[in-house]
Amino acid sequence: MPVFLSYSYLISAILLIFSIRGLSSPQTARKGNSLGILGIIIAIGATIISNPNYNWSNALIAIFLGAIVGIYFALKVKMTSLPQMVAIFNGLGGLSAVLISLVEVISGSSSFFNNLIGLVIGGLAFSGSIIAYAKLQGLIQAKAIVFKGQQAINLIFALATITLCGYYIINHNPLIFYYIAAITTLLGILLVLPIGGADMPVVISILNAYSGWAAVGIGFSLNNVVLIIVGAIVGASGAILSYIMVKSMNRSLISVMLGGFGTQTNTSQVNSSDKTAKSGSPEDAAFIMENANKVIIVPGYGMAVAQAQHVLKEMADDLHNRYGVEVKYAIHPVAGRMPGHMNVLLAEANVPYDEVFELEDINREFATADVAYVIGANDITNPLARTDPSSPIYGMPILDVEKAKTVFFVKRSLASGYSGVENPLFFADNTIMLYGDAKKVTEEIVKTLEQS
Ligand code: TAP
Repeated sequence: MPVFLSYSYLISAILLIFSIRGLSSPQTARKGNSLGILGIIIAIGATIISNPNYNWSNALIAIFLGAIVGIYFALKVKMTSLPQMVAIFNGLGGLSAVLISLVEVISGSSSFFNNLIGLVIGGLAFSGSIIAYAKLQGLIQAKAIVFKGQQAINLIFALATITLCGYYIINHNPLIFYYIAAITTLLGILLVLPIGGADMPVVISILNAYSGWAAVGIGFSLNNVVLIIVGAIVGASGAILSYIMVKSMNRSLISVMLGGFGTQTNTSQVNSSDKTAKSGSPEDAAFIMENANKVIIVPGYGMAVAQAQHVLKEMADDLHNRYGVEVKYAIHPVAGRMPGHMNVLLAEANVPYDEVFELEDINREFATADVAYVIGANDITNPLARTDPSSPIYGMPILDVEKAKTVFFVKRSLASGYSGVENPLFFADNTIMLYGDAKKVTEEIVKTLEQS
């Protein structure tokens, strides 16, 4: 490899490592993103400059068109649909790995093992991501789709893949390679279909890791160092993120991958028809909060849907500046629909980072808070996660909002959240429901706070 290219790839790899590091905190995320873009531009630019005799026109047209499509969708996508977009990107990464390994095999490449890695992992990432996308987009039912003998069929497909891979490595018959492509594509579909409910973010993160490892395989086939490094970074960071997420839900990767989440019959669900939930008005909420010493805000998916983060910040500012109330934000690791969802929205509304706390840092404080203002959140506060072993969310750590003197739930109804489990907290003595759209209710509260 020419020295210029080696150094460029090295710089690109270093920039990508710092990019991932930057993305680990909201304060540095933008910088991290820019470093990543720069790293990729250097890698592509150096590859083109170092191979001046190659006809780049087709590749440049593809890059140009891909960039237009990518920029268009990135600008257009709603915050709440980002997980679907990530799923599609993972799928495209997997598909590229599959196509490159097929082209390598057709053109007589002798990297049999590496091509297989690109094909198998890429194939799983591709078809699995398409199913994850379809579930998140509501094209097929989001709940776990299970049928009798599913695990056995998956096992047979997995064993068939391994056997055929062994056979291909020995006899190099391209036909076997195509069979493997078909089986892994089917296996990806079968593996993701039974995964449902709140496990989908973990699946997307795992598929993200798969697309990274598929790129590593292709990097070895093509003898391309930067592809190996970038693939390994994506693979490792995806694996670590998956681990962090399952830990936050108190689940194991194996239980997520085996699927079936959300299909258990739940014997001790709350029967809302037996109980009544107290409801209040935004004016009541304003009165109680302006007389409080400490208010902890718990944002969830509904805040994102309503885009209530800006007015929420106004409410917090009013409480603090006009009434001297201490206001903090409590973030659950899987609040919303993607990792860091709430952090991004609060940062967009210029909420100071030092007012935003992770679950383990703030959970103890609910006991000393006068008010927990739960805005568009549900599952992440559901005490059944602690008490009911038959509940599909059992074991997930939750924010202990019920320990606050008064709990306000801002949501439109008593409907359940993502996991489909009812929340008994709506009927607790210290809970007051504030029915309505999160933004509208909070706007009313702000209006009252600014009038009184
Ligand atoms: P959820 O449990 O899904 O609850 C959100 C609540 O927001 C709903 O019950 C809904 O009730 C309410 N809502 C919807 N639109 C609203 C609006 N315009 N105004 C006011 N309220 C509105 O959300 P959560 O507490 O944030 O928990 C997240 C869940 O999603 C967990 O189960 C988690 O595992 C899962 N999940 C997380 C991720 C990541 S990585 N964050 C990704 C996928 C899934 P109403 O219909 O009554 O208004």
